[in-house]
Amino acid sequence: MPKIRFLTSGVTVEVPEGKEAHLLVTSIRHHDEDGGIPYRCSAGLCGTCRTKIEEGAEHLSPIRKAEVERLGEELLKQGYRLACQTFVRGGDVAVSWNEAVKGKVSAKVKAHWEAQARNA
Ligand code: FES
Repeated sequence: MPKIRFLTSGVTVEVPEGKEAHLLVTSIRHHDEDGGIPYRCSAGLCGTCRTKIEEGAEHLSPIRKAEVERLGEELLKQGYRLACQTFVRGGDVAVSWNEAVKGKVSAKVKAHWEAQARNA
């Protein structure tokens, strides 16, 4: 079964065989409020969910236009992705993020993503 290793928090999550996993939703589902990948807009607009792909970039969905616009070519080359725009597909992935970055999420966005995480 493919695994997502959240290196910064030490959490590892198994993804059911044949399924894809939204990186941010998986993070929200398996971390408490202060842990996991930080986020704010969850729409590719703010860049708060910037995540370094340490291993397994070949198992991710293609880079989206929002990622090119928010991250730029240099950060993409260094292996960064926006977790809210990225799906894990069929292989092991390891990610890290800057713990000093804290998301400030509106109650509406938070409720939406927590509902997504419960249904994932
Ligand atoms: S949370 Fe804003 S870009 Fe991902």
